[in-house]
Amino acid sequence: MCRMINALNRNSWLAVLTMASQCVVAHAAPASAAQASASQAPVAEVRALFANCAACHGPDGGGVADGTIPAIGAQPASVVTQQLLRFRSGERKDLRMQHFADAEHLADRQQIDLVAQHVAGLRRSTPAARGDGTQLALGARRWSEGCAGCHGASAGAVATRGIAALAGQHAPYIARKLREESNGMPGAPTLSQSHAAFFKRLTPVDRAALADYLSRLPPPEPSP
Ligand code: HEC
Ligand code: HEC
Repeated sequence: MCRMINALNRNSWLAVLTMASQCVVAHAAPASAAQASASQAPVAEVRALFANCAACHGPDGGGVADGTIPAIGAQPASVVTQQLLRFRSGERKDLRMQHFADAEHLADRQQIDLVAQHVAGLRRSTPAARGDGTQLALGARRWSEGCAGCHGASAGAVATRGIAALAGQHAPYIARKLREESNGMPGAPTLSQSHAAFFKRLTPVDRAALADYLSRLPPPEPSP
């Protein structure tokens, strides 16, 4: 896996270096980390841990415009932690995330929390990919009638309910999630069955409209 990651990151010497050192740490005692001062250790550790995430989600946590990889920068730490734990347990399925949330990559709860806090502090510089802009009124209507009650009108994160911000997310990612969840695709479901039931009532035009509408709302502000 270390080899695969290095190949993935061959264009970024920093990521390769961090990754290489993390691979060493993963397979040998982290003597140097233990010797580092208490204040330095988490900074170096967090950088090494986040290098894995950055390889896919980008250094700003901005994700990938085509919808394969969501933007995660500035999502609340508690929401990121919750999702990492769900991937780790296999409750939420995605082979890549299940791999990178495993105990080889994130040793314990403390490392999960550290990387989640780092993600929460990222300001996205990658703009969200949008739709074609033709169905924004429909998207706004569907949002306010079916979704805003739980997610809030502004589609920001609702940390107390474990809800990630959808505002400023890449439209193709949201559209994909809505489609996969409503199909009940094996491995795809992220959410409860009742959520899937809402999604089933959405037509393809509704899904595209919602995704476009949400992608244009301001993304979450990083937490300090
Ligand atoms: C190999 C690529 C890859 C790596 C490395 C990776 N991710 Fe992901 N991540 C994904 C993909 C793909 C998804 C979307 C999965 C899905 O479709 O449900 C995702 C989803 C997520 C989500 C859920 C977002 C949401 O809105 O529901 C969080 C949180 C997340 N990743 C955090 C991280 C963190 C933190 C790391 C580093 C420890 C990391 N990821 C490493 C590819 C990756
Ligand atoms: C009854 C409350 C409720 C309603 C209504 C609701 N949601 Fe959600 N939604 C949630 C909760 C809670 C989560 C986080 C749960 C989780 O990740 O397991 C969530 C998560 C999501 C996610 C996953 C984000 C991600 O990638 O992690 C999407 C997309 C979403 N909702 C879209 C919608 C849309 C669109 C509607 C309206 C059609 C809607 N929701 C209606 C409660 C609700």
